[in-house]
Amino acid sequence: MSVKIVVGTQWGDEGKGKIIDLLSEQADVVARYQGGANAGHTVVVKGEKTILHLVPSGILHENTVCMIGNGVVIDPKALLDEIGFLELQGVSVQERLLISHSAHLIMPYHKMLDQAKESKDADKKIGTTGRGIGPAYVDKVNRMGIRVVDLLDRATFIEKLERNVVEKNEVLRKIYGAEEMDVEQIVQDYLDYGTRIAPYVNDVSTCVMDAIADSKQVLLEGAQGTLLDIDFGTYPFVTSSSPTSGGACSGVGIGPTCIDSVLGVIKAYTTRVGMGPFPTEMHDDDIDLRQLGDEFGATTGRPRRCGWFDAVIANYAVRVNGLSSFVLTKLDVLDTLDEIKICVAYKYDEDTITAFPSEVRVLQDCVPVYETLPGWKTSTTGARAFDDLPDNARTYIRRIETLTGAPISIVSVGSDRAQTIVVS
Ligand code: GDP
Ligand code: IMO
Ligand code: MG
Repeated sequence: MSVKIVVGTQWGDEGKGKIIDLLSEQADVVARYQGGANAGHTVVVKGEKTILHLVPSGILHENTVCMIGNGVVIDPKALLDEIGFLELQGVSVQERLLISHSAHLIMPYHKMLDQAKESKDADKKIGTTGRGIGPAYVDKVNRMGIRVVDLLDRATFIEKLERNVVEKNEVLRKIYGAEEMDVEQIVQDYLDYGTRIAPYVNDVSTCVMDAIADSKQVLLEGAQGTLLDIDFGTYPFVTSSSPTSGGACSGVGIGPTCIDSVLGVIKAYTTRVGMGPFPTEMHDDDIDLRQLGDEFGATTGRPRRCGWFDAVIANYAVRVNGLSSFVLTKLDVLDTLDEIKICVAYKYDEDTITAFPSEVRVLQDCVPVYETLPGWKTSTTGARAFDDLPDNARTYIRRIETLTGAPISIVSVGSDRAQTIVVS
């Protein structure tokens, strides 16, 4: 039996989709534990790209069962569209996807509220994906949410919906000056989604525990990343769930004693989409990591902000996730550079600090302290063993291990499933 959590260690888009797909070769079960269709997880197999938002990234392996845990907020339309798209591509999803009956639903008013809030407070914008994530988790915590199981019972669904729409319409009209929602249309649309989703609904917590009891290999798939965590991220510039490893147990319904290891996916540099502090961000540099790394959002297409590798963040991710090891991705993006920088500390006022600051106000004023390493100026995209890598690339990897105290168990040198080096 092995239960592994795969977690993003920066601001998301570290390449979790590629790594989950790769590890799914050996996995019996892959279960998503938080977030929603704000995620965009890319899997490339023999040049063919698939972007997943809600369906776990193990779906391309036909022997793997995929589950969506109670910690996820599900937009049923987005999910059904995704299932339809996968089936069209020849991926069989029916019989292989289970959806937790206790996952909360994203409703049309969640998306309206998300977008209205972002437009109203333009100067306090978070830069959300506009997928209704924050408002859906607000309703969950406020005990107003509508869950997957409610979709299966017409009377319960209508009762809960009406209560919500009365409240949301008032907020939409009075606070945002927006149009009110029509209950009838939502009832019609959602009961139809309910009928189509019903065959997938199950008790995911019990199913994961059964798999563990049967000595199956289980992967728990995180979305977003450590620095977007509602508690440990750069609050308020975060998402509204717990992407860190702690969220995995409550997000699928198993106990912490079931977990064997935690894998942290980390890019060989750093990116961020949306607003908020980012100490190593490059502004007017000659080096265009966005172009080199094709850094455009998989969900919204927005250009990602880019910067050097930040070991302060990496260390923080080791601590708050209890990482067993790192998976280093996109090493190949640095192939052409003469020199590569690693941020090893921050300068704040007169102090040099290596602990990640808890206040965004402090982080905003932190100036990175860099160490410069020589580039390797050789393509790494064909490397399949650690020893195939150029000396300077190996030095870069070893330096990250030393700075973080965590081993790097896998190195990714291209977007394709095959472009991977298993180190240990
Ligand atoms: P996720 O949200 O963590 O799953 O990451 P995304 O899929 O949003 O973004 C990662 C992007 O990098 C995708 O376009 C991947 O296909 C691509 N990618 C993943 N690993 C590598 C790699 O090692 N090298 C290169 N060049 N691209 C990669
Ligand atoms: P994956 O799983 C990168 C960011 C948004 C915004 C903040 C809040 O592909 O790594 P939200 O819509 O969640 O309320 O937005 O979080 N964000 C992501 N950034 N990758 C993601 O997911 C993200 N999901 C949300 O850009 O800054
Ligand atoms: Mg992504």
